[in-house]
Amino acid sequence: MSGPEFPAAFCELPSLPRDEDGPVFAEPWQAQAFAMAVRLSALGYFSWTEWAEALSAELAAAVERDEADEDGSEYYQHWVATLEKLVTAKGLTGAPELFERKAAWADAYRHTPHGQPVQLRPGFRISYAYRQSPLISVTREDGVSKQIRVQDGHLFVCNGCCCGQTEKGFPALPLAEFKQQWKKRGMRRRFHLTVSGCLGPCPLANVILLQIHGRSMWFHSINHAGDVDVIYNYVERMLVDETDTEMPAALAARQFQRYLGDVIQEERPCDE
Ligand code: FES
Repeated sequence: MSGPEFPAAFCELPSLPRDEDGPVFAEPWQAQAFAMAVRLSALGYFSWTEWAEALSAELAAAVERDEADEDGSEYYQHWVATLEKLVTAKGLTGAPELFERKAAWADAYRHTPHGQPVQLRPGFRISYAYRQSPLISVTREDGVSKQIRVQDGHLFVCNGCCCGQTEKGFPALPLAEFKQQWKKRGMRRRFHLTVSGCLGPCPLANVILLQIHGRSMWFHSINHAGDVDVIYNYVERMLVDETDTEMPAALAARQFQRYLGDVIQEERPCDE
């Protein structure tokens, strides 16, 4: 969709998704984010030059963290991140308030029946831990400090010598669904996805390893797009609640133990 008239300076930003009429937006929230930046600049909270520099820094930092926007689909995620940084730097709002508002909308979305308008639930509160900065500095061996993102968890989807190899008689792997949902759900900055080589237990293909909040969970026979939905719903629930959540029965039926420590713990649940 094309947007309304916007100042030329904003529309000339490098890598801005656009056509001959100006900026284009894949979804309404992108146009809203664009309009907010334009409006705040017009009101004098920051200049266009400030905005362009802040956005460039955000895009460069994403590349540095290996979160580059390769196909342009995440351009407005970076736009929103820039907007958040500028409005907090200018004192228009605080980082805790922004985090709380985002979590409140996520909560509202989860609790709204399909087809009904999403509305904030009165009295919603999030935990303090949710508000912590997810970036830390680490000094490399050459003395250079780099920022990395501290994450809640990581999903390894095996696509090695057997998992997904239909020509060898193994079930197809819903790999595209894993990638698409990971991006679409906007969890990239709290939860990482890696498509890996062989994870080991080939006879159980298709295998995934979920690590979250310090725990490792292995699952087999993840063969359908619907399985991916169940997995990400489970992960999303734990990201929002910031604690372990009851595992869906469909996943529990396909969980297996792979690490010695887990097996020993399971055999002696009431350890002295
Ligand atoms: S190829 Fe997936 S476990 Fe070996």
